[in-house]
Amino acid sequence: MLVLGIESSCDETAAALVEDGVRVRGEAVWSQVSLHAEYGGVVPELASRAHVVSIIPVLQEALGSAGLTLDDVDAVAVTRGPGLVGALLVGVQAAKALSYARRLPLVGVNHLEGHLAAVYLDNPNPPPLPHLALLVSGGNSVLLVVEDHGTHRVLGDTRDDAAGEAFDKVGKLLGLGYPGGAQIDALAATGNPAAVNLPRAMRGRGLDFSFSGLKTAVSQYVQKHGLPTGQALADLCASFQAAVVDQLAHKTSLALDETGLSTLVVAGGVACNRGLRAALETEMAQRGGTLHAPRPRHCTDNAAMIAAAGYHHLRRGERADLRLNAVASLPL
Ligand code: KG4
Repeated sequence: MLVLGIESSCDETAAALVEDGVRVRGEAVWSQVSLHAEYGGVVPELASRAHVVSIIPVLQEALGSAGLTLDDVDAVAVTRGPGLVGALLVGVQAAKALSYARRLPLVGVNHLEGHLAAVYLDNPNPPPLPHLALLVSGGNSVLLVVEDHGTHRVLGDTRDDAAGEAFDKVGKLLGLGYPGGAQIDALAATGNPAAVNLPRAMRGRGLDFSFSGLKTAVSQYVQKHGLPTGQALADLCASFQAAVVDQLAHKTSLALDETGLSTLVVAGGVACNRGLRAALETEMAQRGGTLHAPRPRHCTDNAAMIAAAGYHHLRRGERADLRLNAVASLPL
């Protein structure tokens, strides 16, 4: 089954063609990062307008990169939430129009489920089910058991900011531009993680996360010591990253104990973080378990993951009709 996936939940317009939920035949991702950079974060109305301009060329590029046409497509899967509602609407409308015009089955996909499905794309060694997943992105930080494709049990969630949001806000505070995650990661590689003593929140046994206190601690440090440069900047980035990674790895370790699972999937944009990957690799090696992660380009927002997640719903006979709507808030 060749599924056309469409994603427009935030600041990436993306389309992809994926066969049987696993084989990426073609894809295109148009990022709006440069559009939002001067504001230090995504401006929802600008995002919606940019999606309107990009959606058709992105669809054409994805089909072109696969050497396919709409005649080859068997079904359409589109992100219906969570995300910016105006941005989501563009993808949803495009998907409904295609479904109606080409008489194609349509399914709406939860964006978070897409992130979880990304690990199955072009992966010769896919993770077995059930497994534990740590989903860390710009909008979410969730620990959950993936029981089957599309069936999850949430164990912990963030009480305030998502991990990626904390990276981006601290990046902005440190004058690193938007989005800050990858830049903090790069600077942290040459910094001393023990240089600045930052708080480790939520050390108890619960599986929820909290990052807002850490963000405040960095802000207070900067107010007291001034904006660091050079080695001091690298040291602060390394110390902040270590505090985020400590919390994520600690909660993941507790969840592995609680569930008895030995397979861990890390997904979402923050799964690109080298410090996090190293900490989770070490954790899993000590336990004799395995860590799986999507390729970096499928950790951040893309449409191949939406096609992959949609495939499993379509296979089960689930169909959306033309009443399908965008939803800003959509739990797993
Ligand atoms: O998955 P994604 O594209 O968007 C959501 O679905 O939310 O994730 C984007 C997030 C941003 O917050 C970005 O700063 C973060 O992923 N990110 C990173 C790294 N690369 C991207 N955070 C830390 N280290 C990285 N290397």
